[in-house]
Amino acid sequence: MKIIRAKDYADMSRKAANIIAAQIILKPDSVLGLATGSSPVGTYKQLIDWYNKGDIDFSQITSVNLDEYVGLSGDHEQSYRYFMNDNLFNHVNIDKARTHVPNGKAEDMDAECQRYEELIRSLGGVDLQLLGIGHDGHIGFNEPAPDFPTITHCVELNEMTIKANARFFGSESEVPTHAVTMGIQTIMRARKVLLIANGADKKEIMEKAFFGPVTPAVPASILQMHPDLTIVTADTI
Ligand code: GLP
Repeated sequence: MKIIRAKDYADMSRKAANIIAAQIILKPDSVLGLATGSSPVGTYKQLIDWYNKGDIDFSQITSVNLDEYVGLSGDHEQSYRYFMNDNLFNHVNIDKARTHVPNGKAEDMDAECQRYEELIRSLGGVDLQLLGIGHDGHIGFNEPAPDFPTITHCVELNEMTIKANARFFGSESEVPTHAVTMGIQTIMRARKVLLIANGADKKEIMEKAFFGPVTPAVPASILQMHPDLTIVTADTI
């Protein structure tokens, strides 16, 4: 586990973007695992900037996103598909057909989870997985549970997560109650993991996740066992 302490959010974003840019340069046809939330917004902005300057090329990149809300279609402004288009894909030369986000509107969610898991395998796995962390230690939408959930599955979001994500919706009651997410095993199979976190409100959970015991009560703690984990953080640990 490598911990890179950044000065602030902007510095964290640049450092994380540097790591992703290096991945793209070293392996132009990388499979990138991507994340949503407020943490990666600055990272994506920096990547767009470097793309505009001609430093990085997304034309051979494939992406798979961690998760999606159940019940939201890709054109809903709060869907993660919309977020990705808006914050990254619309601004770089990635082939949209090679950008994958679980389908939150699938009729059969179990079949959708299986399809997504198989898709990731058929792509040869994720080269670099970007992650944020929730206040309860969730990664993707893997909430604290008695066991580590393994592969892509549907989850019921807990109250803390719904409250935290209400800021993006009109009100708490508009936040979907369920989501589909890559599982812990799906995430752990990524060849490299890059976790970003900033802000005093994430301090407690970051300490628990990376200096406490590995436990499904703090899902991110499993990352301590990942052979190639880099944490870029500001104001947490
Ligand atoms: C959501 C996403 C997670 C993300 C988390 C933290 O719940 N499903 O992937 O890491 O929010 O978000 P933020 O970066 O806004 O704190």
